[in-house]
Amino acid sequence: MTPKELMDEAKEATKKSHAPYSNFHVGAALLTEDGKIYQGANIETSSYSLTICAERTALFSAFIQGERKFKAIAITSDQAAYCPPCGACRQVLLDLCGKDLDVILLDKETPKVYKISELLPHSFGEEFLNK
Ligand code: THU
Repeated sequence: MTPKELMDEAKEATKKSHAPYSNFHVGAALLTEDGKIYQGANIETSSYSLTICAERTALFSAFIQGERKFKAIAITSDQAAYCPPCGACRQVLLDLCGKDLDVILLDKETPKVYKISELLPHSFGEEFLNK
């Protein structure tokens, strides 16, 4: 699976978005270590703050299917093709996927790969919690 192929899955996922308020349709495609792909899209509600981002719908749907090991996530939107993950999603991706997760974003038309740990430096994590 190339970054471009995963990005094509993310583009496809933008069609599944429910974004009647912002009209900003985001798609994500999450790749597991054994090669499965889970698509996600943003879902908005009339109480705006209860909206959930595309990255988290992809990750949570993979999680409830028992997936725990992830390689990469591609993200895009139908309006601004370059769509970096919001701060909340960066935290969730780092926590549940680990610091080595590749995050694929478009740089103009070319997919560019970042580590999630680059996108969220000096992060909070489970190591700070008393167990
Ligand atoms: N959105 C995402 O789905 N992912 C992000 O990382 C950034 C923002 C969505 C939330 C909302 O439905 C719309 O984009 C506009 O903020």
